[in-house]
Amino acid sequence: MVEIPEHLLKRSQSARERLTGEAPSADASSEVDDAQSATPAAAIDTPVENSTEKIEEAKVVVEDAPYVNAAKNRNKIPWWAASALLCLPIWAVIYVGTLERPAVEATGVLQHGAEIYAQRCSSCHGANGGGGAGYKLADGEVLITFPYMADMVEWIAKGSDGFGVGNAYGSPERGRVVAGGMPAFADVLDAEELMSVVLHERAVFGNSEEATIYAAELDHIIEAGEMDLDMYFDAETVTASEISEIIESTHS
Ligand code: HEC
Repeated sequence: MVEIPEHLLKRSQSARERLTGEAPSADASSEVDDAQSATPAAAIDTPVENSTEKIEEAKVVVEDAPYVNAAKNRNKIPWWAASALLCLPIWAVIYVGTLERPAVEATGVLQHGAEIYAQRCSSCHGANGGGGAGYKLADGEVLITFPYMADMVEWIAKGSDGFGVGNAYGSPERGRVVAGGMPAFADVLDAEELMSVVLHERAVFGNSEEATIYAAELDHIIEAGEMDLDMYFDAETVTASEISEIIESTHS
């Protein structure tokens, strides 16, 4: 609160009296007001430990009404609570916005990838990537087998048969050897779908920040109509270097 200095108040008061020709109000009473307003302010400045004692003293001296003291000494709302309260209307607007949003957001590479995963992959790898007939992909497992995204796209496009049973796939440190059973998806999914499901698995099961960024960039590019993934490669004959090229071009 901004305090108007007492002397300014007095000045405007006397000016008004001069103009209106009113009898000057008792100057003595304003003198008393001065004394009263000055002393409790000093009392509030004293440290909290002995504030009640000091306030008792102050009361004796200036004889403030009890309700005035109560108002001066009441607990104020803490600053953090005040700012939280100020944010409440903003939060309410955002919350209402989420309620009005359609249940299924049909846009976005990651959302698309999640749908494809549910349709095409979850039967063998588990609804949440926990594994089944196919390996567990969740908890970062997918990133351990495929540190490089391009190798993963190639694997999903070609499947076990495309690599050949008995051959190695994925990171050498992981030491995976094709045992069979993973279908080829090159002629089932188009390039955008393939990229989407790979980015979904890496972002959601692998918690890969990189994949999340790629997905956002792809969203941006596809939305702007600047890139048609199918133009870049024929998924049936996809190679790791072709995929690398796409990733590099989207990541510029
Ligand atoms: C019919 C069951 C089945 C389906 C459907 C399936 N997979 Fe697989 N997946 C497998 C099997 C089995 C393996 C191991 C293949 C092998 O050893 O030859 C595998 C391996 C993998 C791997 C390598 C995991 C590792 O750690 O070695 C990834 C990644 C993968 N699949 C992703 C997918 C994606 C993405 C889809 C959907 C587009 C999918 N899979 C659909 C059965 C399946």
